[in-house]
Parts: sequence; C-alpha cells; structure tokens
Amino acid sequence: MNNILEIRGLKVIYGKSVAVHDIDIDVPEGSIVTMVGANGAGKSTTVNAMIGIVKPASGAVNFLGEDVTNLSTADRVRRGLALVPEGRKLFPFLSVYKNLILGATMRSDKTGIAEDLEFVYELFPKLKDRRMQKAGTLSGGEQQMVAIARGIMAGPKLLCLDEPSIGLAPVVIEDIGEAIRRINRSKGMSILLVEQNVHLGFGCAEYCYALTIGKIIASGPVDEIKNSGAVHKAYFGA
Ligand SMILES: Nc1ncnc2c1ncn2[C@@H]1O[C@H](COP(=O)(O)OP(=O)(O)OP(=O)(O)O)[C@@H](O)[C@H]1O
Ligand SMILES: [Mg+2]
Repeated sequence: MNNILEIRGLKVIYGKSVAVHDIDIDVPEGSIVTMVGANGAGKSTTVNAMIGIVKPASGAVNFLGEDVTNLSTADRVRRGLALVPEGRKLFPFLSVYKNLILGATMRSDKTGIAEDLEFVYELFPKLKDRRMQKAGTLSGGEQQMVAIARGIMAGPKLLCLDEPSIGLAPVVIEDIGEAIRRINRSKGMSILLVEQNVHLGFGCAEYCYALTIGKIIASGPVDEIKNSGAVHKAYFGA
C-alpha cells in the first residue's frame, strides 16, 4: 500500500524550546492512523506543521509523492490535505450552512460540492435540520460535527482531525467515532486522527503513533500497541 502522507525528520522549535524532535509519520492510502499522547506532547504542533500553519526548523512533509514542505496552506488544501483544527474554530455568527460552504472555498467543482453537502447532511442529519442556525449557538457535539463536515467540504484526500473528542460526553464521542469510520469506509478517505482519548483513537485506527514530549515513543498496529504498555508510558511516563 502506498503512503499518502510521509512526514520525515520533522523538528519544530518555538523560541528556545524544541516542541517536536525528528518525527517520522506514515499514513497509508485509505487507512486511519491515530496519534495519541498527553497534553503538550506535540500532537497539534505536528499536524499544524503538516498543513503549513507552523514552520518546521527541519524535516519534510510529503503528500501524494510530492514534497509540500515549502507550499502555502492554501496550496496544500488544493492538493487534498485538510485539517479540522483543535477547538473547532468555527465562525460562530455564521449559519451552519455558511460554515460548511466556507470549507469548499478552494473548490470550483460545483457538482462535487453539492454531493459532499448531501453526504455531510446524511452523515450528520442534525446539521441539515439546523442548517440556518448560527454555529455558535449549537451544542459542543453539534459544533464538532460542523467542524468535521466543513473539513469534508474541502474535498480532501487526507483528513486530519485534531482532538475531535475534546469536551464531549462519552455518548457523543461514540457518535463521532462512528462518523469517522463511515467517512473512511464510504469515501475511502485517509484519516489522521489526533487524540488524547485513546479509546476513540484505538476504536477507529489500524495504526498508532504514541508521542511523549515531542518524541514518538512507540508505533505499530493498534492491536499490538494497545496491550504493550507503551501508551501507559506515553501518558504517565513509566
Ligand atoms: N505557538 C506556540 N508558542 C510557543 N510554544 C508553543 C506554541 N504552541 C505549542 N507550544 C508548546 O509546544 C509544546 C507542544 O504543544 P502542542 O500544542 O503541540 O501539544 P499537544 O500534544 O497538541 O497538546 P494538547 O493535547 O494539550 O493539545 C508544548 O510545550 C506547548 O507549550
Ligand atoms: Mg493539541
């Protein structure tokens, strides 16, 4: 299987502190890969560098066989990378519908946009019911659905989700997990799922990277990592 994303030797420095040290990550085409780790492990820094919001000190981001390290975020999105950022970052005073359409800003394929709008309304029927409601007045779970749906509206080949479970009740997290698996299954979309919630990460992904203070301390198939003690070490340091 080809890798749709390859991150190589990624290093990110903020001021004098190194947030991410020489990280390598592969996402095989069509798969779900999870990156787990505690607060401050460097998960968001890694995916922000992947999409081009953060500039790496060294290393490379290869997407679909092309080195995109020096491309703008807009150019990466045009090529098929999308990030659903931590904390959702919706436009609270705009309607659900407008938030979704803004996700498709880089696209010109009207038919594809209409199909994806149908797909996200079918995936999250609540969003169709509430399409004229201001996004800021939705519940936390509904806002996360808008954020994921907006990511899909960009028409990506690789969708990266940064902690979609944050602040949500367990039953809503289950729904989000089911939606992530459906997006992967029915669209064949590759997914990089960043999570502190290992239950969600392991419930969706085939492959896992565990990060601690900017380093990958374990990686492998979820079934192996789950029982290896590596995740306990990533969270508790022993
Ligand atoms: N813009 C920034 N300026 C300075 N330091 C930063 C910045 N962003 C992140 N950091 C630092 O880099 C380290 C990694 O942070 P990052 O946000 O990537 O972690 P994370 O794994 O996403 O954590 P969380 O699970 O809490 O979201 C932390 O020590 C953080 O304080
Ligand atoms: Mg984060």
